[in-house]
Amino acid sequence: MKSTELIDLARKARKKAYAPYSHYKVGAALLGKSGTVYTGCNVENASYGHTVCAERTAVLKAVSEGETEFEAIAVVTKNGGSPCGACRQVLSEFAPTLTIYIADKNGEYRTTTLKKLLPDSFTPAHLEEGNKEKGNK
Ligand code: THU
Repeated sequence: MKSTELIDLARKARKKAYAPYSHYKVGAALLGKSGTVYTGCNVENASYGHTVCAERTAVLKAVSEGETEFEAIAVVTKNGGSPCGACRQVLSEFAPTLTIYIADKNGEYRTTTLKKLLPDSFTPAHLEEGNKEKGNK
């Protein structure tokens, strides 16, 4: 799938954003290895801390549908905002080599990777080593 197609799906998902507090709408479109696209938007909450970002909405939708391997994600905001730290970490669990398209509402975008946005990350492999050390495995 072309980057511009994935960005367009993220732009449509952004229209569903529930952001009555920040008014900062975010849309995401996550391309699974199967070719299926999972979209997401940010869903805010009156108790602000329970807000869920667009990227994590998309990941949770995908994983809960049985897809756990991903090629790329497109994220659309009004001004080309970059995925937050929590979303980078959640994406890295499933797709450490993910391609990321970061777009603004006018369609301008840049291409980057999760490796660049989250270098030296904590990974599932670290837990396996920890378990071996304790004799848990
Ligand atoms: N937000 C996202 O959806 N994704 C990010 O990566 C950054 C922030 C949302 C959360 C909140 O609803 C709004 O943007 C302002 O922080």
